[in-house]
Amino acid sequence: MASPAADGSTLGAPTVEQLDELAGSAPLVAIDGLVAGYGKMQVLHGITLRVARGQSLCLIGPNGAGKSTVLHSIYGLTDIASGRITVAGADVTRLPVNRRLQDAGIAYLLQDNSVFPDMTVEENLWMGGYLLARPEQARQRAEQVLAKYEPLRLRRKERAAVLSGGERRLLEISRALIMDPDVLLVDEPSIGLEPRFIDMVFAILRGLQRNDGKTIVLVEQNARKGLEFADKEKLFIHPKLMQLLAHDGNRVDPYAP
Ligand SMILES: Nc1ncnc2c1ncn2[C@@H]1O[C@H](COP(=O)(O)OP(=O)(O)OP(=O)(O)O)[C@@H](O)[C@H]1O
Ligand SMILES: [Mg+2]
Repeated sequence: MASPAADGSTLGAPTVEQLDELAGSAPLVAIDGLVAGYGKMQVLHGITLRVARGQSLCLIGPNGAGKSTVLHSIYGLTDIASGRITVAGADVTRLPVNRRLQDAGIAYLLQDNSVFPDMTVEENLWMGGYLLARPEQARQRAEQVLAKYEPLRLRRKERAAVLSGGERRLLEISRALIMDPDVLLVDEPSIGLEPRFIDMVFAILRGLQRNDGKTIVLVEQNARKGLEFADKEKLFIHPKLMQLLAHDGNRVDPYAP
C-alpha cells in the first residue's frame, strides 16, 4: 500500500493483489470494478475498495463526487451495472436492502436527520429492530443500548423531538445497533452539529470500532475529523476511487487533512 512519501504524494498505485494482501486474507468488505449509479446515470465508474474487519475507512472528496453513492451501493440502494461487492466473502451485489441488513450485517446511517420526532427515544430504538423475527429481541437490544449510553437512558420516555442535535445523532447510531451489524456505513455524522457534539459522535464511533469490533466506512466533510478517525495505514482504496473522488481536478490526498 502506498505510504506517505517524502514529497507528500501518497497515491502510489497499489494493485488489487496488494490491496488484498493488506486487508488480510479475507477483507470484510470488498468492492471490485463497481460500475453503479441511479437509473441511467452512472456515478461510479469501476471502483475497487477493501476494508478489513474491525477497521475504519474514511472517504473524502468534493460534493457530488460519489462518496454517498459508494455507501448506497454497499447498502443496496443503487443500480449496479457491473462489478462485485462481497461482505465476509459472500456476494451481496444483487441482495436486496433488507437482506443486506439482516443476513450480511450491513447498517446504513443516513446523511439526513432520520429520527422519528414524535416517538419516544425507546420507541425509536425499537424501530431499529423491525426486521427481527420477535419484537422482544428488539426490546432486549434496546435495553443493551440504553445501558451503554446514558444520555439516551435519561430521556428514554421523552419524544425524540426534544433531543439536542448530538443526542439525536447518538439515537440514530444506536438505532442502527439494534440489528447488531458488523459493518456500519456512516454518512457525514458531523453535519449540522456543534463542535462538542462532533467530538462526542466520533468518540462513540471510535468506541464501536475499538471495543465492539465494528467495521466502519465513513464519509466525512470535516476532513480533519474523518482522517483522525480512519486507520490511515489501512486505507484500502484503489486509485480509481481516489480519481473519482477527485474528478473536479483536485488531487485528493488521504493523508493530508
Ligand atoms: N438518490 C439519488 N438519485 C439520483 N441521483 C443521485 C442520488 N444520490 C446522489 N445522486 C447523484 O449522484 C452523484 C453523486 O452524488 P453523491 O451523493 O454520491 O455525492 P457525494 O460525494 O456524497 O456528495 P456530497 O459531499 O455533496 O454529499 C451526484 O450527481 C448526485 O446528484
Ligand atoms: Mg454525500
